[in-house]
Parts: sequence; C-alpha cells; structure tokens
Amino acid sequence: MNQGDSSSRGSFGRLGFILAATGSAVGLGNLWKFPYMTYANEGGSFVLVYLVSVALIGGPIMLAEILVGRRTQRNSVGAMQQLTVEANKWKGWGLVGWLGVMGGFVILSYYSVVAGWTVYYVGQCLSWSFGTFDPAAVGPGFGAFVSNGWMQIGFHALFMSLTMGVVLGGVQDGIERVTTILMPLLGVLLVVLVINSFFQPGFGKAMSFLFHVGPIRFDGLLEAVGQSFFSLSLGMGAMITYGSYVSKRDSIPKAAGTVVLFDTLVGFMACFIMMTIIYSADDPDAFGASAAILFTTMPTMFYKMTGGSVLAPLFYFLVAAAALSSTISILEVVVAYFIDNLGWARRKAVLVVGSLIFLFGVPAALSNGATLMFSLPTGTDEAGNATYMGFFDIMDYLATNWILPVGAFFLSIFVGWVLSDALTRDELEEGHGPFKLHTVWKWSLRIVCPLAIGAIIVAVLSGRTFN
Ligand code: TRP
Repeated sequence: MNQGDSSSRGSFGRLGFILAATGSAVGLGNLWKFPYMTYANEGGSFVLVYLVSVALIGGPIMLAEILVGRRTQRNSVGAMQQLTVEANKWKGWGLVGWLGVMGGFVILSYYSVVAGWTVYYVGQCLSWSFGTFDPAAVGPGFGAFVSNGWMQIGFHALFMSLTMGVVLGGVQDGIERVTTILMPLLGVLLVVLVINSFFQPGFGKAMSFLFHVGPIRFDGLLEAVGQSFFSLSLGMGAMITYGSYVSKRDSIPKAAGTVVLFDTLVGFMACFIMMTIIYSADDPDAFGASAAILFTTMPTMFYKMTGGSVLAPLFYFLVAAAALSSTISILEVVVAYFIDNLGWARRKAVLVVGSLIFLFGVPAALSNGATLMFSLPTGTDEAGNATYMGFFDIMDYLATNWILPVGAFFLSIFVGWVLSDALTRDELEEGHGPFKLHTVWKWSLRIVCPLAIGAIIVAVLSGRTFN
C-alpha cells in the first residue's frame, strides 16, 4: 500500500479549509432542496426538527469525519483501513470508505446534471434581461430543455469539465483557490438577495410561514434528518477527505462548528429568499412544490420584481457557483482514493475518474424527459397513464436513502465504539486545547446517532423515501 506522505498530498490553510468545506456543504441541497422541502412540509416544525438534527446528529458526525481524515492524512478508504490496523480491529471497516467512494461516483453523476441546468439558466436569464421575458414560455421552455438530450448531455459535460478543471489544479491551487473566491462572493450575493426580500410584499407572510410551529408528519421528521446529512455533505467521506488536508495546528472543533453554522445559515437565507418570492406571488397556492420550482417559479417571480433583471442572472450564477464548490468535493473523494491507495498521478486520476462519472451520468441526463430508455415503469397514475422512475431519480434515491445514511451509521459506530477515547480526545485536542464536550460528543456518536439513523434506515426499508 502506498502510504503517500502528507507533504506531497497538499494541504489547506486554516481559512482555506473552512471555505472549502463550507463550499462542499453549501450547494443545491441548501438553495433548492431545503427551501422546497420546507415549503412541502409546512414550514416551522420542519425547520425546527432540521435544526435539532443538525445539532444532535450532523454536528457530531461532522466532527467525527474531519477527525478521521486529519488523524490519518489519507483518503476515505485508506483512512478507515489505517485506523483499523492501528486499533487492531477487523479490517472490514475499510468497506465503509469504499461505500463512500462509490457514493461519490453515484452522487456526482446526477448532481452534475442539475448543476448544468443552473449554468444554462444563467444564460437564459441574461437573454431574458437583455431581451424580453414571456412568463407563458417559462414552463414549456424548461420542459423542452430537460427533454432535449443533446442539451442535457452538453451541459452535464460542461459542468463535469469545470469540476475536473478545478480538481486537476490540486488542493491548494485548485480547490482552495476557487472556493476562496467563490464563497465570499456567494455570501455577498445572498445578503443582497435577503435584504431585497425585506422590501417585497410577501415578506411578512413568508416569515410567519417559516416560524409558525404546527404539527409535523412522521415522514417530515425523517426527511429533516436525511436532509441534514445531505446538506452537510456527510455520510460518504467528503469531510474525511477534506479533513485529511487539515494541518495539525488547526482546531477541528472550531472548523466543524463554523462549517455547520455557515451551512445552516445559508439554508435559512435561501428559505427567506424563496419563501418571500413565493408569497409575493398573486396566488402562492398555485405552486406545486416540485423540482421545477427553481427553474420555473423563480424566474417568473424575479421578472415581476423591481431590479429582477439584474438579480435573476446573479441568482443563478450564485447557485451554479455553490454547485461547483460542492461537485469538486465529491470528485476529490474519488480522486484522492486513486491517488493515495493506487498511486496514480492526480492528472490521470482526474481524467479517468471524471470521464467515467460523466459517462455514468449520461443516462441520468437523458432520463428527465429525453427518452424512456433509462427509466423503470412504476405503474399507472389516476388517469391511467404509465408512470416511470427515471435513472436520475433512481440514483438520487439510492444515494440519499441508502448510501449516505448507511455510511453515516457505520461511521458513527466506528468512531464512537471502535476508536478509543484516548485516540479521539488526543486528535480533537491537537491544535485546539482541552475539549470539554468530548464525552458528550462520544456518547452522541455511540447512542443518539446510530438510533436516529437506524430509524431512517428502518423507515426506508418499510417503503418510505426521502427525495
Ligand atoms: N452538501 C451539498 C449540497 O448541499 C452536496 C454534497 C457535496 C454532498 N458533497 C457531498 C452530499 C457529499 C452528500 C455527500 O448540495
């Protein structure tokens, strides 16, 4: 096994790590999934459960993943292998790292498809802003776009190329440099949009929707927990991999806390912005809460707003930037494995792995309307028409409902029960000083996390899904 010494692997500066990890966490999950799920789940209670889940489960697992990475300075597979050898335990734990690498492969293949849409919409908005905007054409336009196979493959290819370009540059000159530019920009744009929502007619209603605490469905509970993993990039070794580039002089608890805080903040800001836009519409109930909300409802509302023709392209640029800082973290998980464990050069790893992921994403790109070739029949709807689950949805289902929860489950057991208190305390205190919450944290990994995640897995087994 190639032990790869840490100096040649590259490393993040302190701020660099925080920005890169925040960039990984902040993505389509925050800007599209979270507001849409909040809307679908009637607001307040869902947000509350989400917050509790971030604090009790997401936070502890974030700490655990970064710890595993920094301790070993290795990719997710290598890190798990090395720690089990050190602890003299069953080597099978390396499989958890493997599951992560596979998860990265799967998630990136379809995430890049939607990320490609956001780039297309930057262009769309520019042409609307400089030309004319026809509200009646937005919905059909989106439908035509997603069912145009060549466009779908083209924008997926474009986004994969962008991602590969950044990861090719390596840890400092690629990932750190790009996220250090994109993240502050994203922060500024978000603040501008939030301030803008204060002046919209629907702001008051949006806030009472967000902060109204009513009853919540059991499904909503579990969806909130699943979403907290996805949003924090947990469960597949992304934070192990990024953690492996953190210096021993930096504090893990501080970094983890900052990333969790920023990610949650961005989710909230996105809710402010989107809910306000929805409630500023003449008939908010007319909106189905669906995947298309970001690409049909949002542009329509933007172009009704004063300043909308400036804000709309900016907004989609922001979403695309957030998606890019997430896709690079997913690709890095897979690439780091090939570099560390198989001894490949970064260049070769990026080109080979990136191309394979691109190819694997092609059926996903084509399954949103271009062809039924990559879809499974699921029955018929009320009108008697055949319904299908596309390759895209199948991959999202597999990743969100299986790979992430299972990965996070085993990781919390591994760090909670297999790694000794001496080891975990030592690593968390290195670069930090005494860590008072160590015992509480350890018990939450031992008991709270496995139970909560176990509940999701059981729920999935009993046929519920969380998309
Ligand atoms: N967290 C990102 C988002 O909210 C997506 C993401 C990046 C991710 N890396 C990940 C999700 C690793 C799960 C695992 O959009």
